[in-house]
Amino acid sequence: MKTGIKIKVRDLSVKFGDYFALKNVSFNIKEGDFVGIIGPNGAGKTTLLKVIIGELKDYTGTVEVYGKIGYQPQLNSVNREFPVDVLNYVLLPVYAKNRKITKSDKQEALNILKKVGLEQKSNFLVGKLSGGELQRASLARAILSKAEILILDEPDSGVDEMGKDTFYDILSEIRKERNLTIVVVSHDIGLVFEECKTVLCLNKTIHCHGATAEISPDKLKDIFGKFDVWIRSDHHYEVEHVEHKERKE
Ligand SMILES: Nc1ncnc2c1ncn2[C@@H]1O[C@H](COP(=O)(O)OP(=O)(O)O)[C@@H](O)[C@H]1O
Ligand SMILES: [Mg+2]
Repeated sequence: MKTGIKIKVRDLSVKFGDYFALKNVSFNIKEGDFVGIIGPNGAGKTTLLKVIIGELKDYTGTVEVYGKIGYQPQLNSVNREFPVDVLNYVLLPVYAKNRKITKSDKQEALNILKKVGLEQKSNFLVGKLSGGELQRASLARAILSKAEILILDEPDSGVDEMGKDTFYDILSEIRKERNLTIVVVSHDIGLVFEECKTVLCLNKTIHCHGATAEISPDKLKDIFGKFDVWIRSDHHYEVEHVEHKERKE
């Protein structure tokens, strides 16, 4: 393994028909980094994550990942009808290994649920959880699977302000405790700048990538235009994206 590098992407391009979702994307993510990926709707953020986790294989360029990934998809793609309680939802990666669940697996799952503030809800059906609680249950599951790299797609969307803060606090704590590398897509620029070490601005290509301390939100405004607008409302992301496409094509 190249020292300290967990994810290495070179000249990555993804095309859907004639449409480039990603174009010539290159970056490294180092061990222990906490990267916030920001960019308008349709910028290719989810596509990038799907290539990294190996779900999307039709791309050009190279992608190297060093370490076990725990992936949390966008909330709207999680099947909430799945009739399973929170404890067993968290234990799914253990079941997936085709072995019996031991007492110590259960104890460890309960400890992790306590860490994410869900110890009282271990026997609730996942369908009964709020959006924020479901995100925390998914986080607990990724941790139990012993992932070294957490890849989270908009874990804060549909979660209220307090829920978001709780989620990021838990994430920061667990990151330090387990020396995790975290990549999180978020529309909440304030939280990204507060919590993440590095920010990566994506809109088909990379517009900036660096330490949050060294990138000013004003600079982002120059890059993305109506930045304040599109980070706050889904409706406006679409407007911004259409404008972006018109500028480019
Ligand atoms: N499977 C697919 N087939 C065709 N187009 C796709 C597919 N997945 C994503 N796209 C398109 O690629 C672009 C990037 O999508 P996505 O990565 O989901 O953006 P983001 O997560 O930044 O909102 C969008 O225009 C989307 O419609
Ligand atoms: Mg997305």
